[in-house]
Amino acid sequence: MSALSNCALYSKEHISVDEFTQKAFTFLNEFLSASDSLDIMIVENDLIVNKTPLRDAGIHGVNLMKRMKRKGISRVDFLKGITLSELKQFITDISDPEKQIMTYPHIKAGVVDVRMGIPQKEIEFDIESLSSEQVEKVKEIYPEASPFKQFKQLNTMGLEEIIVNFIATFKQGVNILRLISPMRSSSEYIYTHATNVAALSIFQAGSLGVRDDLLHDIGIAALLHDVGKLFISKEVLLRSDTIGEKEREELERHTIYGARYLAKIDALTHLAPIVALEHHLGYDCQGYPKLTMDGEKQHICSQIVAISDFFDIFRNRRPYKREWEIKEILSLMKSKAGSAFNPFYVDNFSRILLTALSDSGTS
Ligand SMILES: [Fe+2]
Ligand SMILES: [Fe+2]
Repeated sequence: MSALSNCALYSKEHISVDEFTQKAFTFLNEFLSASDSLDIMIVENDLIVNKTPLRDAGIHGVNLMKRMKRKGISRVDFLKGITLSELKQFITDISDPEKQIMTYPHIKAGVVDVRMGIPQKEIEFDIESLSSEQVEKVKEIYPEASPFKQFKQLNTMGLEEIIVNFIATFKQGVNILRLISPMRSSSEYIYTHATNVAALSIFQAGSLGVRDDLLHDIGIAALLHDVGKLFISKEVLLRSDTIGEKEREELERHTIYGARYLAKIDALTHLAPIVALEHHLGYDCQGYPKLTMDGEKQHICSQIVAISDFFDIFRNRRPYKREWEIKEILSLMKSKAGSAFNPFYVDNFSRILLTALSDSGTS
């Protein structure tokens, strides 16, 4: 795990990678002298090594799980007879976002979920059901929050899976409009909204040339941008009439609640609390929460998510919003370019949506 982390951080030639690989090789050889294989599996959010959950695998354990998920594998078996060069190759391949996992004579990488195991370019999605499947997954994973209760541990690996699927659809050139879920009921709004904002943000960032880890991290941050709403009472969240000053303040606090919660989860990208805090801040920083330091700026990832957020809010039939036509939303967004939104990202977003509209023949 340490070799892998160092390999991703520095380069495969770095001395620490060699050292840790050598250590791992010695350990594996010792272990395999008494046993035929050693297997590592991901089950939910845990690493299972030879049927034993590895509790507190630490940051390197999390990193290993993340790399495995992003390669679409959830199980690795190390077999008797393994060589140092095989192990080196495996570590290099798994830490390189561009490389596919190959077959090695004594290392077998496999999957639990069939879809996750197929190389990304070959994945065939049932696009019609993909977005609703993802919404269901988000619903399962999202913590059941209450200010008085402890959060259950967030299944960050489950989130990775959702993002891997959306990135694959982006790479395949799927029409973004087919990935956006309509709202099913107001109680499920939070999950459909999270899923839609994640898909929209991946398509935005992807079209701006963002790749690999950063693209994944933006997706994860987008998926969790409103997680702080789980701390807000249902009465305030679902008010259909105009809300009062006090309730508005409470609602706005979802940014702070979310950031505070996400900052405590080690396994998560540091972008998640930033985006949760800043997605209503505005490009001109005139939104909320109010900044306390001069010269602070909205993070570019928050700027991207803010645009997806705005679009999905207006597109969904909220209790207090009528359904807006896509072009209407885009022109409203344009009127806020330079103030609430980064003008360059607004242009890019409009281009994506207008292309998607004309491709789907609904323009
Ligand atoms: Fe929000
Ligand atoms: Fe939102």
